[in-house]
Amino acid sequence: MLIRELKDTDFDDMVETYFSFYAEVEADPSFGLLPFHQRPTKEEEHKWLSETLRDVGSGNSMIRVAEVGSHVMGWCDVRRARLGSPIDHRGVLGICIWKEFRSRGVGTALMREVLEKCRGKFEIVELSVLASNPRAFKLYKRFGFKEIGVLPEAVKRSGVYIDERLMYLKL
Ligand SMILES: CC(C)(COP(=O)(O)OP(=O)(O)OC[C@H]1O[C@@H](n2cnc3c(N)ncnc32)[C@H](O)[C@@H]1OP(=O)(O)O)[C@@H](O)C(=O)NCCC(=O)NCCS
Repeated sequence: MLIRELKDTDFDDMVETYFSFYAEVEADPSFGLLPFHQRPTKEEEHKWLSETLRDVGSGNSMIRVAEVGSHVMGWCDVRRARLGSPIDHRGVLGICIWKEFRSRGVGTALMREVLEKCRGKFEIVELSVLASNPRAFKLYKRFGFKEIGVLPEAVKRSGVYIDERLMYLKL
């Protein structure tokens, strides 16, 4: 496995991974990610990823991808909270791994690299994790994230409410 910077040739793999989450939500409404109700088009996803690359260039995003067997199987990013405002010292972290490669240390390797690169760029990294996602919660705790509160019934999916745990790391 290789942890490396994002390239525009990774976009197809990443879109495929993102689209696979719809099937996971369908199979398990407590699944830890929150894709849009309306599935975006491949073109919209490419545009969004191009913007991510641009934001990396301007220092407003940090992202690393995990490559396994010449394909991107997951990524972790930190995006600056509302640029040009008094909250832009904060970064919001997101992470996801293709189903078959979870619980093999890929998330740990991605987080280690991304958080290291965030030092000096962001002062605070924040995230939210569903109460139904103990694997992600354990990962974040291991990197020193503190739970600072719970938003009760923050997510409603298939009629089921799920609490959201808010977490914070001071770099
Ligand atoms: C959450 C996610 C990013 C973690 O990445 P990963 O590669 O699976 O994580 P790792 O293998 O590096 O570490 C996971 C840890 O959780 C543990 N774990 C696995 N299943 C668990 C469970 N059901 N409950 C508690 N801990 C669990 C593992 O043992 C491991 O800890 P260890 O290294 O001390 O043994 C990944 O599983 C994923 O993409 N999940 C779906 C998307 C998602 O939930 N994203 C996060 C949204 S907040």
